[in-house]
Amino acid sequence: MLNPLLLHPMNKSKLALPIGTTLDRFIKQKEDESSSATGELSQLLRDIALAGKIINKEVTKSGLLDISGGYGSKNVQGEDQQKLDVVADIRFTRALKNGGMTCAIVSEEEDEIIHLNPNCRYVVAIDPLDGSSNIDVNVSIGTIFSIYKRISPVGGPVQEEDVLQKGTEQVAAGYILYGSSTMLVYTTGRGVHGFTLEPSLGEFVLSHNEMNCPEDGKIYSINEGNYYAFDEWVRTYVDDCKKKGMTARYIGSLVADFHRNMMKGGVYLYPSTQKAPNGKLRLLYECNALAFIAEQSGGIATDGKQRILEIQPTAFHQRSPLYLGSANMVEQAISYIREYSIVE
Ligand code: AHG
Ligand code: MN
Ligand code: MN
Repeated sequence: MLNPLLLHPMNKSKLALPIGTTLDRFIKQKEDESSSATGELSQLLRDIALAGKIINKEVTKSGLLDISGGYGSKNVQGEDQQKLDVVADIRFTRALKNGGMTCAIVSEEEDEIIHLNPNCRYVVAIDPLDGSSNIDVNVSIGTIFSIYKRISPVGGPVQEEDVLQKGTEQVAAGYILYGSSTMLVYTTGRGVHGFTLEPSLGEFVLSHNEMNCPEDGKIYSINEGNYYAFDEWVRTYVDDCKKKGMTARYIGSLVADFHRNMMKGGVYLYPSTQKAPNGKLRLLYECNALAFIAEQSGGIATDGKQRILEIQPTAFHQRSPLYLGSANMVEQAISYIREYSIVE
């Protein structure tokens, strides 16, 4: 009998990987398609998905349990930690430790490298809870992750060079969006795939195969509260967006803003400001993963001068300006930089 899932309208040309395939089965199928796969990356992706389900459970209880509000501490970047920031950091570290496929983690919430199993090949960079200012007000938040292969020999201690790799070296990256539904979106460099959590089954199932970011769109996303702290080119760009009647959308959770723009077409901007000359967003924990996904889905990610993925990191918590999203819209936004820079 014909599998009814194969009849899904989104699925006519994708009979091999039907909508509704579980994440576990999808990962296994991809592993089988690769002659060099050892199964370690597959297990690591499953560990991340498991941690995501655990965080999702915590997030949906926010307001009921004592997990909302400030934790009373600051992270290494001087930002107030929310309780859920800390909970998510612990949950991910534990899942990756127990999963046994990760040699080290660097996290937005930790000062130093967390050393795990030295006999493993993979390093994970993570923003365990993105958009933490939105936790207490029931607005979408997320998790962002990047996976790299270590450079130093397996068996020895993880070195800084294993962590400070360019985004081009990512072997996989993704995000989990705790929104009106919970989604896991990831890439291993062969397209971008989205899975929605089916809550009664507790399984992520394929809902968005081969995601494509539209080349154009109407949405611009920027924190306009910083308008007077922006460079002139940014102010002019924003003014022009208004003159053209474009749509302003800004959630304040990068994952959610990025996801919406990738689905509908849009550009996300977090420029430098007078107070923050390198912008706010973190290269290792936020920019690189989303840049990899953006490029894999046909979009662009740049700091205004070069591809995000080509920036050589020099510090774990390094920040970068970020212009991200639909290819033509990002190109157009950064064309203002050239126009406004003084040519000697
Ligand atoms: P995080 O909660 O991990 O610290 O990240 C917050 C980031 C990002 O999610 C969001 O786009 C941006 O900060 C919002 O910053 P502003 O409030 O300055 O606009
Ligand atoms: Mn973040
Ligand atoms: Mn965070």
